[in-house]
Amino acid sequence: MTIGGRGDEAARPLRLGMVGGGPGAFIGAVHRMAARLDGQFALVAGCFSADPARGRETGAALGLDPARVYPDFAAMARAEGRRPDGIQVVAIVTPNHLHAPVVRAFLGRGIDIICDKPLTATLAQARRLAASAGRAGVLVVLTHNYSAHPMVRHARAMVAAGALGAIRLVQAEYAQDWLAEPLEAGGHKQALWRTDPAQAGSGGALGDIGTHAFHLAGFVTGLAAEALAADLHRFVPGRRLDDNAHVMLRYAGGAKGMLWASQVATGCQNALRLRVYGTAGGLEWDQEAPDRLWFAPRAAPRQLITRAGPGAGPEAARASRLPAGHPEGYLEAFATLYAEAATAIRARRAGLPSDPASALPGIAEGVAGLAFVDACVRSSARGGAWVRLQP
Ligand SMILES: NC(=O)c1ccc[n+]([C@@H]2O[C@H](COP(=O)([O-])OP(=O)(O)OC[C@H]3O[C@@H](n4cnc5c(N)ncnc54)[C@H](O)[C@@H]3O)[C@@H](O)[C@H]2O)c1
Repeated sequence: MTIGGRGDEAARPLRLGMVGGGPGAFIGAVHRMAARLDGQFALVAGCFSADPARGRETGAALGLDPARVYPDFAAMARAEGRRPDGIQVVAIVTPNHLHAPVVRAFLGRGIDIICDKPLTATLAQARRLAASAGRAGVLVVLTHNYSAHPMVRHARAMVAAGALGAIRLVQAEYAQDWLAEPLEAGGHKQALWRTDPAQAGSGGALGDIGTHAFHLAGFVTGLAAEALAADLHRFVPGRRLDDNAHVMLRYAGGAKGMLWASQVATGCQNALRLRVYGTAGGLEWDQEAPDRLWFAPRAAPRQLITRAGPGAGPEAARASRLPAGHPEGYLEAFATLYAEAATAIRARRAGLPSDPASALPGIAEGVAGLAFVDACVRSSARGGAWVRLQP
């Protein structure tokens, strides 16, 4: 993993704060591991829970100074913004409806932001945030972590280099089964807010994992979706948001797409898969075997390209840490986003221009994800009519 720009200041870890990620939370712990992997961040402050006692529990377990473990995120933003040694970056890992208010609390204090997806709960919030982030001039990184897998980076480079010819078909799917039962009725922490429109937004499986698949498809192909037709469904009785989504897509330039997001697909764990077919060849990538990429050139035998193996290009190498045959996966890809965020944040703080080749997802990708959810909900409400994505 290449990490750029090291001087005195650049050698010191960036001071990181976290909002969310308290006891029993899922993704906060992943962010903490990812932030540590390349030594670019030190967690120094947090507001880990809406319940101050539980937040203190996490702060103590992480060995933080109790004075920097805050009872609410607004107090944290104020106090850290005033400290000479205050946080330089904040990671936001709360349920979706809190992303916008937390980002707003930290914007305008010169604190860069790493926010989990979706950017916000609604498209309107995302658009407002885009405007205020632009004015604040800080970096907002959105953790679409699957885009940082080395073989995804290689796939993107192959498409950009024309190895597939003109793209005709984009098949993206993200299937899980953990919401096949009404876990929310039993108070399951992660299921509760994901099935509540007030906390998740208007997409269920669609917003939670469909946005990852949508981002991945656009990231690899470089294509923008222009219109879609969606069929959203709730299979589990009493559920308030979709647990299954079938979406047809029309991309700029004429490519056709299909996207399936499901959390009731029995037997599927974290089955994110992307297949792209062009006039000169096809590509297949599967998140559960992320070090492998299948390339089928037209009228020639299929090739298996492996991370750090023969044929894996420089984009894959930049996102790799280990020699070939030593599996890398979810955590390493997440850490790559953190390492790239560190490089971009250091550049911004040093007044240097941002890297035009940066593959980091940010505000624009966040707004696009919410526009996708919004269009799917509008289409499905009209019986699957074709609707345009609002840019
Ligand atoms: N990138 C990925 O692969 C990925 C995976 C899972 C979740 N996510 C995203 O991460 C976010 C969190 O998901 P999760 O599964 O970790 O949820 P979770 O329910 O496991 O954790 C949420 C945490 O936020 C805390 N919280 C709630 N209100 C708070 C407040 N006012 N102040 C401070 N903390 C507060 C909760 O106490 C909890 O600790 C969601 O936006 C989700 O979409 C992303």
